[in-house]
Amino acid sequence: MIETKKEKQAGKVYLETYGCQMNEYDSELVKSILASSDYEVTTREDEADVILLNTCAIRENAHGKIYARLGDLKHLKNGDHRVIVGLLGCMAQNLRGNLERSDCVVDIYAGPDSYKRLPAMIDAVRRTGRKEFDFNLSEFEDYSDVYPKRVPGVNSWIAVMRGCDNFCTFCVVPYTRGRERSRSLDSVVKEAERLVAEGFKQVTLLGQNVNSYRSNGTDFADLMAAVANVEGLERVRFTSPHPKDFPEKFLKVMAENDKICNHVHLPLQAGSDRVLDMMARTYTKKSFVALVEKIRKMVPDVALTTDVIVGFPTETDAEFEETVEVMESVQFDSAFTFKYSERQNTIAYRKFPDDVSEAQKTERIVRLVELQKSHSLKRNRQQVGKVVKVLIEGPSRKNAADWMGRTDGNKIVIFENSGERDKEGQLINVEIKNATAHTLFGKRPAPHPNY
Ligand code: 5AD
Ligand code: SF4
Repeated sequence: MIETKKEKQAGKVYLETYGCQMNEYDSELVKSILASSDYEVTTREDEADVILLNTCAIRENAHGKIYARLGDLKHLKNGDHRVIVGLLGCMAQNLRGNLERSDCVVDIYAGPDSYKRLPAMIDAVRRTGRKEFDFNLSEFEDYSDVYPKRVPGVNSWIAVMRGCDNFCTFCVVPYTRGRERSRSLDSVVKEAERLVAEGFKQVTLLGQNVNSYRSNGTDFADLMAAVANVEGLERVRFTSPHPKDFPEKFLKVMAENDKICNHVHLPLQAGSDRVLDMMARTYTKKSFVALVEKIRKMVPDVALTTDVIVGFPTETDAEFEETVEVMESVQFDSAFTFKYSERQNTIAYRKFPDDVSEAQKTERIVRLVELQKSHSLKRNRQQVGKVVKVLIEGPSRKNAADWMGRTDGNKIVIFENSGERDKEGQLINVEIKNATAHTLFGKRPAPHPNY
């Protein structure tokens, strides 16, 4: 008998992603795994047979969002059409059994290393009506045999390593994503080649600790150089690195290679040596600032961005002032600032009571946000008058008559769409005319009279 496409279909899956770019990438893996098992991925929640939430656990508000969403989904269990709900990723992994008791709407719980089992888990729920769990973390699973199902566009992600062995005391990631493991250089390069053939112009290499990449005697510098060598690729980015792994070899590769974007996201977390030590960050205020100087010297015009946590346990006002001091001295291009959020299972949770008051955390974060705004504005204004290379990503969200693109340093640029001349994915010159703390505004230089 000839099977029609419809008869083969195992059902429609709707997938929602929370958290970081690694989670976005993992959702692309999940879509690919389900599509190979005859599931159709839908963007319409109302027609779904299976709803999956790929979750985050980094701060309590990430959990809060998911609890609220699970509340919304309760009605799905009342009607005739019984939708299967799955909780994937970091929050599922972090809360494990606890979740099962608190929220019965969920049928499937799967941690970040269990995605290949999803089709079998969905089948099992259908057959037995019982809940399915898989929280096994693997030392080897790197999904290099799964080609993610991506939405066509300009930028693509490749996870080159997974997990984290750093155990920063505030961070839940080593518990939710397990031990560090890297894909082979060859498999990453092959994937980048395929992406170029599919029309992608930029690849961002991802890892929780991306510059700790190690595989068969190759390191992150070798990997970046090899990916940048892929013909047809316009830009290579990476995120997120740890300040402990910045050998000169890597900075040289960055400096010498035009395709590697001059942008480093360098998480500071805190400015006081005592707090950094409690966080187990393995650097000091002095060595962090020295690293910034070295990066700026070796990679001219580099854009530097950061993450900062305020109100880590026992952080005093004077210690917080040291964070301010480092930010003043470095002047980052932009910064993500967070209030410390105690995470179950972490070292800080077990050893250090969350003793900085909410009011103090708020006061500190407000200061940092204001400070960073002034630095971002200053750094962005330095671009005014320059002609910079911009990779066009698509129409501006605010005004479809404008293009939105990014500079090498990852700054957003808005400029007028002059009609036939440019298109998405093109790398073009734009003259920067104006700047706010968030955005650059530019103009396409007039074409040469003989052009
Ligand atoms: N509380 C607040 N912020 C955190 N981050 C990680 N864990 C926590 C936590 N428990 C921040 C760090 C990290 C970024 C991704 O999230 O700054 O770099
Ligand atoms: Fe990403 Fe960390 Fe959130 Fe997991 S917990 S989704 S690794 S940000």
